[in-house]
Order: sequence, then C-alpha cells, then structure tokens
Amino acid sequence: MPLPTARILGIETSCDETAAAVVSDGRVIHSNVVASQIDLHAQYGGVFPELASREHVKAIYPVVNEALRQAHVDIQDIDAIAVTQGPGLAGSLVVGVNMAKGIALATGKPLIGVNHMEGHIYSAWLYLANASPHQAPRFPLLALLVSGGHSELVLMTDHLTYQRLGGTLDDAAGEAFDKIARLLDLPYPGGPSIQKAGMAGKDDAFSFPKAMLEGTWDFSFSGVKTAVLRAVEGLQEQGRPLPTEDLAASFQAAVADVLVEKTLLAAKEHKVREIVVAGGVSANKRLREKILSQSTRPVHIPPLFLCTDNAAMIAGAGYFHYIQEDFSPFDLDVLPTWPLS
Ligand code: KG4
Ligand code: ZN
Repeated sequence: MPLPTARILGIETSCDETAAAVVSDGRVIHSNVVASQIDLHAQYGGVFPELASREHVKAIYPVVNEALRQAHVDIQDIDAIAVTQGPGLAGSLVVGVNMAKGIALATGKPLIGVNHMEGHIYSAWLYLANASPHQAPRFPLLALLVSGGHSELVLMTDHLTYQRLGGTLDDAAGEAFDKIARLLDLPYPGGPSIQKAGMAGKDDAFSFPKAMLEGTWDFSFSGVKTAVLRAVEGLQEQGRPLPTEDLAASFQAAVADVLVEKTLLAAKEHKVREIVVAGGVSANKRLREKILSQSTRPVHIPPLFLCTDNAAMIAGAGYFHYIQEDFSPFDLDVLPTWPLS
C-alpha cells in the first residue's frame, strides 16, 4: 500500500539556529530556512544560552513565515507541525515548542514532538524538490550521530525503532572540536576552523591517542584532548611557536579515525545493511572521505547544508510519526535531556 502523502512544517530551536522548513513525505524539501546565531555567539567562544533563547524569540515568526512563503504554501495546506522537543537548551527549545503549539491550536492540525537526534538521522532521507531522489536508507542500519552535544551509535531495525549501542563517556565529538579550537585560538565553531587549519597541516605530525574502548560501543575524547593540551603546553614552555596546522590535522585525524573504525566494527558485528552518518561533525571532510572509502556497505551522509542543525530533518522525521498517527498532546513540554532509546 502506498504511504499517505503529507506536508509537514518543521520547527527547530534546540541550540543556536532558529529554523523552519516544509517537507513532504519525509523526503522532499520545499523550503529550509535557517537563521544562524553563530556570529553572535562567536564573540563568546561558544553558545551563550540566555542570548540564544532571546534571539529565537526574535527570529521565530519571520523564519516560520519565510519557510511557508518559500514553499508557496499557506498554513492551512500543512498536514502537521513537527517540532524539536529535545534534547537541547531548555530556554531555546521552549521557543520552538510554544510556536508549534500555537500554530497547532490555532489551525487544529496535529502536533508532533521530535527528538533532535532522530531528526539528524532522518536528514539522510531528504533531497531538494528540484533535485532527483537518491535511494532512501534501508534497514537494518547503523547511525553514527556526531554533533556538538552527542556522539552516539544507534541501531535502527525499522522506522522510529532505535537501539542505542553506545555513546561518548565524556565530550561529544563536536564539543571536543570546539574546545581544541579554543585552545589553538581558532574561531567558533571549532569543527570548521580545525578542518580549515588542518588542511595545511600533517595528520601524522603528532601521534595523539585513539581511544578504542574495546568491548564497548562507547567513545571517549578526553584522552586526545589532554594529549593536545600537553603538546601545546610543552611547546609553549620551550618558547616555540605553535604548529597550529599540524596540531589541528593530527587532532582531527585522531577523532575521525576512532569514529570511523568503531562504526565499521559495529556495522559488521550487528550485520547492518547500510550506514548513516549525521550531525554537525558529519560535515567533516576527513570523516566523510574515510568512511566512504573504507566501508563495504552503502554509507549515507547528508549534503553539508543538512549536516548542521536545520528544520527539514525535523519535518522529515515528523512525517514518519505522522503516518503512524503518533501525535503529541497540546500541552507538550520540552525534554532538554532526551535519549534516543
Ligand atoms: O548538529 P549540530 O549543528 O548542533 C548540535 O546538535 O550540536 O553540530 C554542531 C557541531 C559543532 O560542535 C561544530 O564544531 C561541529 O558540529 N562541526 C564540525 C564541522 N562542522 C560543524 N566538526 C568537524 N568538522 C566540521 N567540518
Ligand atoms: Zn544537531
């Protein structure tokens, strides 16, 4: 039986991006508007939560209106409103959730609370309305989710069916990139800055530890972070200039290599058919190239504009809840710490 057609409005405000999008059938992007606060937070070297929620309040109406306008639809043409319920910053999440509740109450359309990490996984299904569709990911699949707040390996045997195999014991991968960038005096967000600096460096200039944590599917980035710190301190004590490019390239290699090696091992052990890599760190060039060249299974990595936070992925995931009539109550509350399984 063919799946029902539905047009979902997605809203995302979990961190420092105010985003809204219109997506049909969990795959086709009709609009995808993202108002980034990166420039604002860069002066503080990271996200300033209070400032983020105030900026969301200012941006949410224009962003939602623009998403509807660009998709050439009226709010009445939407079948449901999907919104990021968590995890994320409480004061930021509440802005999107209240907007979604307001629209749902005013229009009588269903409201769907979506897990932000689930949204990242569903970014692998999306394509632009004017592009040709790619093959959708097939189950069972293994998702490597790497963002500023999370690093997780999740097994999916069907839509909306998640088994968390493991995750970071300390910093998320993106958080480690952001902290090391700060140490190396590179601008926020750290991931793109490290990647850029690392392009001119040698990835084997320093041999930083790669914590494989054998016997688990967990990650740990505290060892590599401390090793970079010690290397920097050692060079500074000797009065030598920091080889920023080499440090960035070697750090990036250590993190990307562990992520790829563990993902490929887990994919083999759990006999998955395909792999999805998603979340902000999946924009990393080394990570993308390495997993694509080393995997014997198909690997889905979203295009760069869908790796970092956006609302198309929330609308995409929302569709799969919609077809199961998995709706949320109108008094939906935010869940700042909401694990995926
Ligand atoms: O998914 P995302 O946009 O927000 C969260 O859900 O956290 O991920 C943001 C994270 C930041 O830590 C940022 O430094 C990292 O993704 N990131 C990257 C790259 N682009 C963004 N990390 C490594 N390489 C990149 N090219
Ligand atoms: Zn995210």
